Amino acid sequence: MLFDTHAHYDDGRFDEDRDALLRSMPENGVGLILNPGCDLATSRTAVSFAETYDFMYAAVGYHPENLENGVDLDAIRTLAEAHPKVRAIGEIGLDYYWEKDAEKRAYQREIFRSQMVLAEALSLPVIVHDRDAHADCLAITQEFANVRGVYHCYAGSAEMAHELLNAGYYISFTGVITFKNARKAIEVIRAVPLDRLMIETDSPYMAPEPYRGRRNSSLYVHRMAETIAEIKDISTAEVERVTTENGKKLFSID
Ligand code: NI
Repeated sequence: MLFDTHAHYDDGRFDEDRDALLRSMPENGVGLILNPGCDLATSRTAVSFAETYDFMYAAVGYHPENLENGVDLDAIRTLAEAHPKVRAIGEIGLDYYWEKDAEKRAYQREIFRSQMVLAEALSLPVIVHDRDAHADCLAITQEFANVRGVYHCYAGSAEMAHELLNAGYYISFTGVITFKNARKAIEVIRAVPLDRLMIETDSPYMAPEPYRGRRNSSLYVHRMAETIAEIKDISTAEVERVTTENGKKLFSID
């Protein structure tokens, strides 16, 4: 059974077939899906999916690219407290690829810290988005020794992964690892023990090879298990089993 630990089914690209697609997941070997929120509206939608589908769980929070229209962390807290299938604060973090303005980057760091404080207060793990902001993301992560979580769509170095493992974090990979230029990710996968790796699609983005360019869905998450199995020279079944266990452990799923 596969666990897609990061997929955005709130995205409009699923409007036409969302329910049928989601209902087909268990028969296709995808037994668990976690849908993170990116703002208040998508966090609410993530919660509604978790309440509709047995195999879905939610995370709630503000993505660093979604801070422009106001941030209501009290509402995020209320959602997390009211709904038992909210299992993380996320996705949160820093995105310096899309944000070049120094003041706005500082605001991203402020909101990232506030959401780490919230995760600590609620004893929830975090789902971290780090794009071109490795040093600052790591520094803020290390400020919160009581918070655990996962770095999703990991793009950092093996050295940074080592620091994150020491901080109790998991490392998660998308379809990027199936691309031809994935040399750095392959090095990280070799360096990180299997019991600290997770897999995800980041649907509808990042479709793995040989589906690159199409709308992604959890139906393709097996490609990440197969790729990690090849890199680590172990069976796909083993990768599937252990990455699912890792996700269940981090997100407290029985
Ligand atoms: Ni995402």
